[in-house]
Amino acid sequence: MAAVDSFYLLYREIARSCNCYVETLALVGAFYTASTAVAIARDCYSLIRLHFIPRLMSRRDLVHQYGQWAVVCGASDGLGRAYTEELAREGVSIILISRSESGLQSFAKAIADAYGVETATIGADFSQGQEAYKPIKDAVKDKEIGFLVNNICVPSEYPQHFTNVPENKLWDIININIAAATMMVHIVLPGMVERKKGAIINISSGSCCKPTPKMTAYSASKAYLDHFSRALYYEYASKGVFVQSLVPFYISEVGAASGGWLVPHPQVYARHAISTLGISHRTTGYWPHSIQFWLSRYMPEWMWVWGSNMLSRTI
Ligand SMILES: NC(=O)c1ccc[n+]([C@@H]2O[C@H](COP(=O)([O-])OP(=O)(O)OC[C@H]3O[C@@H](n4cnc5c(N)ncnc54)[C@H](OP(=O)(O)O)[C@@H]3O)[C@@H](O)[C@H]2O)c1
Repeated sequence: MAAVDSFYLLYREIARSCNCYVETLALVGAFYTASTAVAIARDCYSLIRLHFIPRLMSRRDLVHQYGQWAVVCGASDGLGRAYTEELAREGVSIILISRSESGLQSFAKAIADAYGVETATIGADFSQGQEAYKPIKDAVKDKEIGFLVNNICVPSEYPQHFTNVPENKLWDIININIAAATMMVHIVLPGMVERKKGAIINISSGSCCKPTPKMTAYSASKAYLDHFSRALYYEYASKGVFVQSLVPFYISEVGAASGGWLVPHPQVYARHAISTLGISHRTTGYWPHSIQFWLSRYMPEWMWVWGSNMLSRTI
């Protein structure tokens, strides 16, 4: 029986047989490093192309590009209010929708006076099911609707175990976050297809990126909106209608102090998001949120779940 009489000889034998494995591993490592570098470069390029270049260029004529009227659902407060004002600033006439029409009227008058656009208001409660859509169908019938902003949601005010969520709230999440957005698209899309132009903005949420415990129904409803919008984009882009899935992270409240660059004021957010219209069919709309989105995309699911559990303890 052959005996190994020297450690050096043994090492040389092993090294010779391992050499080809080491070279293969080095090749795999080099390929992985190169592809990661390409992916990071591509993400940086799209961040600049989407969030900075459009803001440096001269303003687009949104009315000419998409149409004269916008329907904004949930126009009385928050992001919907900011979108309403930013679109009016671009010369777009607005149909404002929320539950309390009286609350909308003074805002509608203020933007009509400030920007010289036409406005109309509709009081509709989307938690009431099909009844809510009748006045909307009548109002949009003879108008060139160029924009739909689906912004209404039943928020998840605080994290809660699913079994503790009241049944009414679950129905509201289904009727408002899912059904209202779907039905509003069904109402305005045929006119847009006929005119071969239009933009639909469905506002989802960063919580749709990964399953979010204690916000289960809310985050799942936002994931629905994200998928729905992306599928619609692929179906209708060739027919001239641009469908955008907007995926914001935290935005501050109207009138509240901005929470810094990560938590923008709604007006700042809306201005950024509108500049991405026609460029990206799925975006956070605001570059610091795109960095958050990018991090959450590469984050393992267990880390996201751990983070959301930590966050829910602080709320
Ligand atoms: N704020 C954030 O940090 C954040 C983060 C990610 C995503 N988002 C998304 O951005 C969107 C806007 O959020 P927000 O915080 O700006 O909302 P918000 O301030 O709560 O405003 C919601 C709007 O919807 C209207 N509304 C609520 N329930 C309604 C109903 N049943 N029927 C008709 N109108 C109704 C409200 O008006 P009335 O009360 O007068 O009806 C109000 O105009 C939501 O889709 C949300 O998921 C927000």
